[in-house]
Amino acid sequence: MSPTPASAPAAAPPLPWNRPLIGPEEEAEVLETLRSGWLTHGPKATRLEQAVRDRLGAEDAFAVTSCTAALHLAFLAAGIGHGDDVITPSLTFCAVPNALLHTGARPVFVDVDPLTLNIDPEATEAAITGSTKAIAVMHYGGHPCDLRAFRQLADRYGLLLIEDAAHALHAVRDGLRAGSVGDLAAFSFYANKVAAAGEGGILAGCHDLVQRARLLGRHGIDSSAWQRHGKRNTADYEVTVPGLKYVMSDVTAAIAAVQYAKLPAFTRRRAEIAAAYTQALTGLPGLSTPAVMPGVEHGWFLYAVLIDPDTAPTDRDQLAAHLLAGHQISTSVHFKPVHTLGPYQAMADRPLPVTETVAARQLSLPCYPAMTDQDVARVITAVRSLWP
Ligand SMILES: Cc1ncc(COP(=O)(O)O)c(C=O)c1O
Repeated sequence: MSPTPASAPAAAPPLPWNRPLIGPEEEAEVLETLRSGWLTHGPKATRLEQAVRDRLGAEDAFAVTSCTAALHLAFLAAGIGHGDDVITPSLTFCAVPNALLHTGARPVFVDVDPLTLNIDPEATEAAITGSTKAIAVMHYGGHPCDLRAFRQLADRYGLLLIEDAAHALHAVRDGLRAGSVGDLAAFSFYANKVAAAGEGGILAGCHDLVQRARLLGRHGIDSSAWQRHGKRNTADYEVTVPGLKYVMSDVTAAIAAVQYAKLPAFTRRRAEIAAAYTQALTGLPGLSTPAVMPGVEHGWFLYAVLIDPDTAPTDRDQLAAHLLAGHQISTSVHFKPVHTLGPYQAMADRPLPVTETVAARQLSLPCYPAMTDQDVARVITAVRSLWP
C-alpha cells in the first residue's frame, strides 16, 4: 500500500447547514430522567413551562410534542373552526396552514415586507373581512414582526393574535419579547431550532386559553398523569371534551430545559456569526444581507441572504450548488411559499409579488453555535469566490 504523501491537503469535512450543540449537561439531565422512573409529562416538563413563563412574562405555558401541536391546540382552544378565516403569511412553513385546515378554518395568505420578510401589517389590514377571526403572524428567521402594530390591529378589529414563534424563542422588538404579545404563541424545540430537543414545542399566553389547550392536549382528561399517579393520588378521571394527545415527555423536557437555559449564550454566538457574515458580504453586487430593524434583538435562527440574479454574477440555485459541490457547505431555503404547494394552490386569492420574488432569491447560510470561527471564515471565502 502506498503511503499518502505528507503534503496532500486534507479535504475539508462537510459543513452541514445546521447542527445542534448538545453537551454533558443535557446528557446528565436525560440520564437522571431515565433513572427517575417518570418518563412522560411530569416534573421536568413542568419546570420547563415555568422557565418559559418566567422569561416571557406569560400568564401560562404548556409543553407539547411540537410547535405544530401547539398551533393546532391554539386554534382549537381559541374556538377557530368552520367559516373562520385566519390571515397568515405564505412565506412560511406549512404548520399554521395545515393546523388551520384541520380545524375547518381557512388560511388567507398575505404578502410580506421586503426588508424583514415578515408579514406586512398593511397587507394584513387590507385582507380583513367579516369572516376574519384571527391573525397568525410568524417571526421570520428570528426577526420579530412588528408586534406593536399587530397587537393594535388585532385589538382594533376584535381579532385574536396568534404568534408562530417557532424561529423566535429568544428575540425582542421594541422591548417586547417575541411570543409575549399574542393571545397565544407557539415555540419549537425541533432538531434544527435555536434550542433543540429533537422534537417539542411550547404553547404560551393567556391563562384561560392555555388551560383550555392543556385540557385538549391530554385527551380532554381533567387532570394530568403526574397529578393522578406521580403524587400517588387517585387514578379517577373524567373526559370532559374529546381531546388529542400532545403532551411533551419528560425525556424531551430534560433536553429542552437545558437548551433553553443556554439560549442567551447560544444567541450571542449566533449574533457574532451573523455580524461576521454581514461585515464580509455587504457590498457584493446583487447580494442582500438580512435587515435588522431598530429596536430588534434578533434571534438569528436564520441568516438569510437574497441573490438578485439580474445584478449578481450568480443566482440562488447556482450559489447553493457551488457551495455544496465546490466547498462541501450545505445551505437551505426558507421557504417554498405555501400558496404554491399542493392543497393551497387553489386557495391563493390575491397576488403575493414580494413573497414570490423573495422565495426565488433566498438562501439560508449555516449559522449556529456549533460553528467554529474557521467554519465561518470558510463560508465567507466560499461565497465571495463567486464574485470576481
Ligand atoms: C415557521 C415555522 N412554524 C412551525 C414549524 C413547526 O415546528 P415543529 O417541527 O416543532 O412542529 C416550523 C418548523 O420548521 C417553522 O419553521
